[in-house]
Amino acid sequence: MTELTHPLATVPQDELVARAEADPLRPRFHFVSPAGWLNDPNGVSQWNGSYHLFYQYNPEGAFHHRIQWGHATSTDLVTWTDQPVALEPSAGQDAEGCWSGVLVNDGGTPTLVYSGRLEGRELPCVAVGSPDLLTWTKDAANPVIAAPPAGVDITAYRDHCVWREGTKWRQLVGSGISGRGGTAFLYESADLRTWDYIGPLFIGDASQGDPADTDWTGTMWECVDLFRAGQGSLGSATSDGSPDVLVFSAWNDGDTHHPLYWTGRYAGDSFEPAALHRLDYGGRFFYAPQSFQDESGRRVMFGWMQEGRSDAAMVEAGWSGVMSLPRTVTAAEDGTLRFAPVPEIEKLRRDHVGLSGPVLSGLLEPLDTGVSGKQLDIELELELEPGGLVRLGVLGSVGGGTSSPAEETVIELYRAADGGNNGTLRLDRTRSSLDPAVDADDKSGPVPMPGGRVHLRVILDRSAVEIFANGIALTARVYPTLGGDHVSLAAEGPAQVQSLDAWTMAGIFDGARSLFP
Ligand code: FRU
Repeated sequence: MTELTHPLATVPQDELVARAEADPLRPRFHFVSPAGWLNDPNGVSQWNGSYHLFYQYNPEGAFHHRIQWGHATSTDLVTWTDQPVALEPSAGQDAEGCWSGVLVNDGGTPTLVYSGRLEGRELPCVAVGSPDLLTWTKDAANPVIAAPPAGVDITAYRDHCVWREGTKWRQLVGSGISGRGGTAFLYESADLRTWDYIGPLFIGDASQGDPADTDWTGTMWECVDLFRAGQGSLGSATSDGSPDVLVFSAWNDGDTHHPLYWTGRYAGDSFEPAALHRLDYGGRFFYAPQSFQDESGRRVMFGWMQEGRSDAAMVEAGWSGVMSLPRTVTAAEDGTLRFAPVPEIEKLRRDHVGLSGPVLSGLLEPLDTGVSGKQLDIELELELEPGGLVRLGVLGSVGGGTSSPAEETVIELYRAADGGNNGTLRLDRTRSSLDPAVDADDKSGPVPMPGGRVHLRVILDRSAVEIFANGIALTARVYPTLGGDHVSLAAEGPAQVQSLDAWTMAGIFDGARSLFP
């Protein structure tokens, strides 16, 4: 039987890699698929020293269809080697796609638990790997759970979090209960093949707040990820008070809203929530995060940086989707999470510009930093008195004979006059692109700034921007059309920039990649 070609497969497959590589907006030191479509990180793990990153992949083109599991490995979380596709749809439960899932170590056997899609719905499936994790064999008994819990009217049912607790495996499957809210169903198993349903771990309330709110919990929870933020493992008594964290991506009727997390306590068969938080102020631009604990004990998280351009523009570009840099996850004293790119990324730093100070105080002319580039790692130390504001412009291009750049992406840190030790981080994309079709929504949120001090880290990789302000993350995409690479700095009111360090960043891929490694 010949495969029907998808209507969006308008770019011949043998042209996809060349198209993707020719796109000046394609990141060079973030992981991207060889070409075609990429979404969620899957099976993130470290196995015998090597890091494994699997991802939702469509090599047919830059659109979401017949999803496979792409695979890449790394020894340092910085450079990646493409490996053969790990899972591909085949006759049976995953005939329409191998959707998101995780990797676990089943007594030495690498095992994937994922969502197989058939006839428009997903069910849990299992596959076991060869010792090198390169060849995967699907379980003959797939799906390993035959149906969602009986008697519950669900909105959707997919994605997995699986962990070992005592002598048993436990699993969460993301879902939602119609008329109520998102949830995660809890199961238990002795062998990862036969699962007993326990019940909903915890049910959200979709009637709270408005769907437009940046912390609305949605009608379904995608990609649930439960972990203990500090020392100790899930279900064990804790002495250091570290919170348990339930991460999920709020979804509603086909719309991917944003990643959120509950802090609280997982004990017995349920999760007692303490508080709800936004995980990344970029919302859908850091979607479907998945984390793991590496061999050194760090918790490392990846997220899918969605595109902000039209479906047609992605298809034309030949590629879609960026994997975030791996970021460490730690708990702050108040129990909320802090994020930072793994320090390994600093290996890519090349030419350095350093200014120290104070570099700049309020009410002066914007400073030409002498820094330029489209692949940059920038660190700033700021001191904001109440009412102070610092503005960092990147990807700026001068045009039209005015002093204000025709295109520029602006990152702002502001401490309100009556804001105490809190301030605001904002990404202003209104002038990021002259292309009126790209996403330019404002992104912002509160940042703790004790004594007005802020450590700001901005990682720029062409269309990918990751911002960390005192460990609070804001991730987004920008699509400048003029090719500007200017970096500027301005302060207003009582604000000082104490230092600026910037490095150009090397790329991680050399040589052409193959769609089917
Ligand atoms: C999240 C998601 C998952 C699903 C996968 C399909 O982005 O929708 O819920 O398993 O992507 O590619």
